[in-house]
Formats: sequence, structure tokens, C-alpha cells
Amino acid sequence: MNKTEVIQNTVEFVKKTLADAEGGHDWFHIQRVYNNAKLIAKGENADLFVVELGALLHDIADYKFHNGDESKGPKMASEFLRTQNVPEEVTEHVIKIIENVSFKGGNEGQSFNSIELEIVQDADRLDAIGAIGIARTFNYGGFKGRALYDPKIKPNLKMTKEEYKASTAPTINHFYEKLLLLKDLMNTKTASEIAKKRHIFMEQYLEQFYKEWEGQT
Ligand code: NI
Repeated sequence: MNKTEVIQNTVEFVKKTLADAEGGHDWFHIQRVYNNAKLIAKGENADLFVVELGALLHDIADYKFHNGDESKGPKMASEFLRTQNVPEEVTEHVIKIIENVSFKGGNEGQSFNSIELEIVQDADRLDAIGAIGIARTFNYGGFKGRALYDPKIKPNLKMTKEEYKASTAPTINHFYEKLLLLKDLMNTKTASEIAKKRHIFMEQYLEQFYKEWEGQT
């Protein structure tokens, strides 16, 4: 199988696997991350095949939808890649990307790094901010039955990884606990530039949100 065929098969596999996924973590999220990753990779000296596979498979079994199980995604991805006769070192690299791509609270160290991981991570983080990021955040909050906002419940910026995963706080808090932190966490220059614009949009959004909450126009 050549690389183009492997990518095509991977797209089909991901579409099928995520057919019933929550709206912010469905095939369209993967497609946006895949496109972001290819755009970012243009400015970097990276192995494009690894970047593409990493982007396509990064949420194949997100721990958020599998009772916090972080091993399911890497396992499914490696089983799939073995059916595609992908070289072992490529499979191993893609698995490392899946294991390390996700944001689980700011206090968690990362055990692996590569430019390919940095690109996929940036691509995924870009989809968590801006207009789409806002839509995905409220969709996920609704999926979890969370309040939109509760002025009495303040954001918690010092959560451990376990607290972050178990949080039931209102969706607005997630802006302060994650979304507004992402622009400073971008690895690449391309993503950092895009993030700045999306960050300003989120700040404007929040300003308007509070105005309307207080009964202003
Ligand atoms: Ni993702």
C-alpha cells in the first residue's frame, strides 16, 4: 500500500468509528484538525505522513468518552495501522502523538516530544478556540449537562489532572481553565499567529456575554 492509500483508508476508518460521536469530537473536528495540521506543517520541517496519520487518529477513542480510559485510543490506532502495513517506527510515532496530544489541565508534564507532535497539538488546540472553539465548548457542556454560567462558581486555575477530568463546573469557567490559556501554549509560529486572532474574538465574546447577562444591550 502506498501512503495515499493508507491515508484514504485511515479517513474511512475514522469516519466509521466516529459516526455517532459528540458534535465537537466528530469526523468534522478531525477534518478541521487534519487541515490545520497540513497548513502548519508547510512552515516546518516535518514528516508529513506522520503528521497526517497523527491528526486523523488523535481522537479515535478520546478518554472523555471512554470513562477516562487513556489507553483505548492508542490501542485502536496501533491495531488499525498494523492492518495497513505501516512501518513500525511510523506506528510508534503516531501512538506517541495520540498519547501526548491532549490537554488535561495545565500542570501535567509531557513525556515525549517531536515536531510532528507539536504540529498535531497546535492543530487540535486551534480547533478549541475562536468561533468553533466556543461552539464546541458549549456543545460539550450541554452533553455533560453543565450550566452555561454561574457567577458564584469561580474558575479553578490550579486543578490537578484528575480534578480537570472530573470537573462539573459551568461551561464559561472552561474558557478560563483552558481556552484562554491556549494561545500561549502554541508550539509553532503559524499556529501562534492564528491563535492570537481567535483569542481576541473569544475575549470580545465573553465581554458581550457578561453584558447580556447583566441585562445590558
Ligand atoms: Ni481533538
